[in-house]
Amino acid sequence: PTLKPVITIDGPSASGKGTVAALVAQQLGLHYLDSGALYRLTALYALREGVSWEDEQNVARLAAQLPASFHDDKAWLGEADVSAAIRAEDIGMGASKVAALPAVRAALLTRQRDFLVPPGLVADGRDMGSVVFPRAELKVFLTASAEVRAERRYKQLIAKGESANLVQIQQDISDRDARDAARAVAPLRQEPDAHLLDTSDLTIEQAVGQVLSWFDKARGTGH
Ligand code: CDP
Ligand code: CDP
Repeated sequence: PTLKPVITIDGPSASGKGTVAALVAQQLGLHYLDSGALYRLTALYALREGVSWEDEQNVARLAAQLPASFHDDKAWLGEADVSAAIRAEDIGMGASKVAALPAVRAALLTRQRDFLVPPGLVADGRDMGSVVFPRAELKVFLTASAEVRAERRYKQLIAKGESANLVQIQQDISDRDARDAARAVAPLRQEPDAHLLDTSDLTIEQAVGQVLSWFDKARGTGH
């Protein structure tokens, strides 16, 4: 088997990608890439620099020189801890707007591939299996019903002590999913070689267990 295996976990908003990917990485001792955070950081950086999320050339310029880093379990923009700021719903919306611009996606491509170093990587996002790591050992398309996903996001916000409106969250999630699936570059879709995992009725532990068992099989048979 390869010294740098990759597991990709793609899917719609609040399907559980981040939670499952981080736990799988931890259990296997692999690195973890939250690619959505890079798009969120780009949206936040543009906002702070006064650049419109529709301005392709200038957002791509910012993405190419994004002063972002991940350490101590936090996301950083320069010296600032922006872990909480990038999770705001409006930044999620901004992320999906800048993510629809081809020049921005191109600017972030190498940066994402640079995360693949021994002993390997678990990467979550929308196009990890289709564009960024097309030769991954295991590709998973993680999903859950729209109702379950909105409820999960709602509970996350309440747990953080923030105000939350379930109807508004449902609307935001469906707007973002529609934009992510409709865009011309790297649209959200299940790759033919990706395993479908619907987590609507699964616990986190069950979802993680399924991914680990697929990975065992993929490694055992060499693909
Ligand atoms: O990364 P993504 O937006 O796909 O989702 P997430 O932030 O990892 O998960 C959204 C929420 O759903 C988290 O609070 C998870 O704990 C929860 N979740 C769950 O309740 N059951 C699962 N099988 C997976 C995630
Ligand atoms: O956590 P959630 O699934 O809601 O969002 P995220 O994974 O943090 O991604 C935020 C936005 O970035 C998504 O709505 C996508 O538009 C975009 N994105 C993307 O286009 N490609 C990726 N590989 C990851 C995120």
